[in-house]
Amino acid sequence: MTATEPDTQPAASHNAPRASGGRRVWRKVALGAAALAVAGGATLGWFLAFPAQAPAAMGRWIEDTTGANPHPVKLLRPAEKPLSVLAQVGQKLFFDPSLSASGKQSCASCHDPARAFGPPTARDVELGGIAMDQEGLRPPPGLTYLYRQKGFTIGPSTADLDVPIPLDQLADKAQTQARQVKSAGTPAEASALVPAGGLFWDGRIDMLMDQAMGPMMNPAEMANKDRFAVVDKLRRLPYLAQLGRLFGQHTLDRPEMLFIEAMSALSAYQVESGAFHRFNSKYDAWLEGKERLTHAEMRGLRLFNDPEKGNCAACHLSQPAADGLPPLFTDSEFEALGVPRNPRLKVNRDPAFFDMGLCGPARQDLARQTQYCGMFLTPTLRNSARRGVYFHNGVYHNLRDVLNFYNQRAAHPEKVYPRDAQGRLLIYNDLPAKYHGNIDVADAPFTQKRGDTPPLSDADIDDIIAFLHTLDDR
Ligand code: HEC
Ligand code: HEC
Repeated sequence: MTATEPDTQPAASHNAPRASGGRRVWRKVALGAAALAVAGGATLGWFLAFPAQAPAAMGRWIEDTTGANPHPVKLLRPAEKPLSVLAQVGQKLFFDPSLSASGKQSCASCHDPARAFGPPTARDVELGGIAMDQEGLRPPPGLTYLYRQKGFTIGPSTADLDVPIPLDQLADKAQTQARQVKSAGTPAEASALVPAGGLFWDGRIDMLMDQAMGPMMNPAEMANKDRFAVVDKLRRLPYLAQLGRLFGQHTLDRPEMLFIEAMSALSAYQVESGAFHRFNSKYDAWLEGKERLTHAEMRGLRLFNDPEKGNCAACHLSQPAADGLPPLFTDSEFEALGVPRNPRLKVNRDPAFFDMGLCGPARQDLARQTQYCGMFLTPTLRNSARRGVYFHNGVYHNLRDVLNFYNQRAAHPEKVYPRDAQGRLLIYNDLPAKYHGNIDVADAPFTQKRGDTPPLSDADIDDIIAFLHTLDDR
């Protein structure tokens, strides 16, 4: 959480994570029980039926017995409107395979609407290119909930400065600043200079509109030679006449303009269509007091928020903002988690190749800022239970493996990383050794010592996974 994301500060007391461990909880339970003894049966029935009216001290007791949210909020959702003509054209483009060099691949081929616009398969990475045999570097992110994503910055926000400081200078400054520790228990201070925002796993593109140019011309994706190749294909589309009616026939005659209109149509579709931000998950309904969580889901939510356990909410924000904006389960910041290398990727057959996120090779502008090597954007966890592939290199294929990684990386790295031929453990093996200092050892659950008992039991992991399923759109 930084000054660049003021709208995602946790709301004051709502289901606040346990800051001081078990003792406070027991006091709350005791208070709840005492309150009950006084209140008597009739009142008890009342609170069970209308949990929103229960006193705060009873909150946890209500959660435990009913699964209801004792402090419901009203969520502020984006207004639902019919799609504009531009967005309607964008929707057609999104599903149109004739825009690819192979003639077989549309945006939806890698961003499947049935899977929250994430990868249709559980492959490590998707295939593309002219012959549909080229392998990309990273698995496609889901495209839901990008509507609030801001442009890439290295905090403090350059938006309020008269003369923006060049990225490189900001990054130099960041080298001398201590990194803040992230705990789900305490809101972060707004001073640290941290990279945040942008699109793609490395934040290299700022706007949805610019983004669509990438896949159109990426040789491992839709593989068009250049803009003119795209424009040739656009001209053949009958539904593009709608754009002519909207912007004037001359836009269709000028290749540059046609290309830009098509890109803005694709982005208008993703911003306007409710399919990209439904906020109709079970957790949203729970936040609003309309549904109840099961025992497993409730325990999972607490473990997710607990700074001593999962500490997940430190980066994957779980609380609505004070004004009711629903949580997006990301703080939009970059972290180096030290995810193990994926030996199945073609690019990784070259032992000298490393996908280092912010410092390259997919983006080059921060190549000199080696303190960012290994950092990737924290993804939303909404709809993550729908994915068949996880992390920027697609190394894992189920949530249990992801949770085992978080739980064991610090205490039992031998269960996370492979060994070389001599039997040496290859810790942090997807980043050159000289950058291992960038990897997060400051935030729980990565703060443990080698050999410690990992913070989460198998049952805890089951419950966190049960909770993650409540974040799926329905
Ligand atoms: C061959 C598969 C493939 C195709 C086809 C494809 N994409 Fe993607 N998309 C990806 C991958 C992989 C990434 C992540 C790339 C990275 O991080 O470097 C991505 C990233 C994105 C992102 C950024 C998401 C985020 O969370 O940052 C958007 C938006 C997007 N694609 C939209 C589109 C649109 C629109 C089209 C059609 C014009 C399209 N994609 C076609 C694979 C594909
Ligand atoms: C210090 C910040 C931080 C904490 C704490 C954290 N995460 Fe993450 N999470 C990230 C980042 C960054 C990534 C992407 C890393 C990458 O791909 O290299 C990620 C990725 C994920 C993914 C993969 C999503 C996808 O689309 O591939 C899941 C699932 C996930 N986290 C769940 C959790 C859970 C559950 C916890 C608590 C046990 C947790 N995270 C704690 C920052 C964090």
